[in-house]
Amino acid sequence: MRKKFVFATNNAHKLEEVSAILGDKVELYSMKDIDCYDDIPETADTLEGNALLKARYIYEHYHKDCFADDTGLEVEALNGAPGVYSARYAGDAHNSEANMRKLLHDLEGVENRKARFRTVFALIIDGKEHLFEGIVKGEIIKNRRGTSGFGYDPIFVPEGYTQTFAEMGNEEKNKISHRAVATKKLCKFLLK
Ligand code: IMP
Repeated sequence: MRKKFVFATNNAHKLEEVSAILGDKVELYSMKDIDCYDDIPETADTLEGNALLKARYIYEHYHKDCFADDTGLEVEALNGAPGVYSARYAGDAHNSEANMRKLLHDLEGVENRKARFRTVFALIIDGKEHLFEGIVKGEIIKNRRGTSGFGYDPIFVPEGYTQTFAEMGNEEKNKISHRAVATKKLCKFLLK
């Protein structure tokens, strides 16, 4: 029998990315699929904490094996900021343009441009919690380049590449991204 999991998201892009790696060995349900329309508060101060909050919410209310993710951009010269606050760095939730503007402003005149994207997945199976991490290192450039992707993609160049995530296009990005690395670890565990 195929294993069943709820992925605590309604983000179609994330669902597609994870389903593609999991293949047909796992039945994946979104929050909508289980009639959960709640806006789960992400109030923790770490990525691990937020991923666990979301997974625990589903497990406690719906009693189903599940997993959830959280991602942040961690900039070395800013001591890891914006990190867990990446989505609302400039105040407005999910305003990528304002977030990039603030980050470029904060890094004005700063030599060290090293940064990394970090994704954490929290999985709960039979009440037991597991964490999986995916990291992609790179640097923040001074001007936006490229139009694909989302969030901070136009100003992030991954290590070993010359294009930004936004110039690469989704197919290329999804092969090497933080989310892909974490997703592969999660999938390896689920399929073993
Ligand atoms: P979430 O946890 O996936 O919702 O990500 C939180 C925030 O991190 C997003 O709102 C984006 O600002 C940023 N972010 C996450 N993943 C990416 C990515 O792959 N590229 C660029 N920005 C990202």
